[in-house]
Amino acid sequence: MRSKILAMLQNAGSEYISGEEIANRLGVSRTAVWKHIRELREAGYDIRSHSRSGYMLREAPDLLLPDEVRHGLKTKSIGQNIVYYDDIPSTNTEAKRLAAEGAPEGTVVVSEAQSTGRGRMERKFFSPKGKGIWFSVLLRPDFLPQEAPKCTLLAAVAVAKAMEQFGLQAGIKWPNDILYDGRKLVGILTEMHAEMDRINYVVIGTGINVNIQSEEFPSEIRDCATSLAIMKGEKIPRAAFFRAVLQALEELYTVVKEQGFAPLMDEWRHYTITLGQEVNVLGINETFSGKALDIDADGALLVETAQGVHRVVAGDVSIRPRK
Ligand code: BTN
Repeated sequence: MRSKILAMLQNAGSEYISGEEIANRLGVSRTAVWKHIRELREAGYDIRSHSRSGYMLREAPDLLLPDEVRHGLKTKSIGQNIVYYDDIPSTNTEAKRLAAEGAPEGTVVVSEAQSTGRGRMERKFFSPKGKGIWFSVLLRPDFLPQEAPKCTLLAAVAVAKAMEQFGLQAGIKWPNDILYDGRKLVGILTEMHAEMDRINYVVIGTGINVNIQSEEFPSEIRDCATSLAIMKGEKIPRAAFFRAVLQALEELYTVVKEQGFAPLMDEWRHYTITLGQEVNVLGINETFSGKALDIDADGALLVETAQGVHRVVAGDVSIRPRK
């Protein structure tokens, strides 16, 4: 009911809508409407009321509430079921729990804060309250388990596309970080549950630093982290940005399901800052330097060294500054 009232206010834009009209359209009493309006206000919605004209939504809170994110979201699956938390240890862990319980493909878990956000290689991921978009998407693709790591590219390209819509140019560093000015804006952690020949589910966890100011980062990452707000010089509306990411994700995922990963990899090549650069590779068993040539059909990075071309499937890559 609360969602329906909110949708009516959202659709009315800057027009007032009377309590009587809301009550009639929803078949409830005006007192019930008033109670829901009070709850919406408590949740942070700025709703103006006028004795004759009724109610008007002046401003929505800067929260990633499901009703807020879903309003105007043009997807069929991704984000139609949003599980929202104020604070949670990790959205990836929660998405995996929901996946094991049978949650449908496209389920999104989002939290205003994560107390133990997880990064790759057992690292912690800084996820302060209300300042970013910390979320996980559950997919149940029917491609082979060895293809799953390429889902990471899906999320990186989706965020890059959303950034473009907000006038921001993204640079993807292989395999999955988005950087600006050499500093990290976005991190992605993809996890999977599979049999030998079949994926049960993939959880793509993405952390986007949206409205974090430089001094708000812990000192140990301050020099290597940045945010969309720092990049743009102004606050970014999180729900609108999140919608753009979810929409791009669904469009890209649809292409992958219909045509395979090749078109996605071309998009990734368009946004990457890694290819053509001299890089240091910190692989699982080795460390070396060379020139990043391309990614292959599996998403592995091909690096040319004096000894030949190395294929890097996992690890960290840093771009060496040009002399
Ligand atoms: C990395 O940069 O190493 C990956 C970071 C991934 C962070 C996201 S935030 C949402 C999701 N939940 C987590 O615990 N981790 C991912």
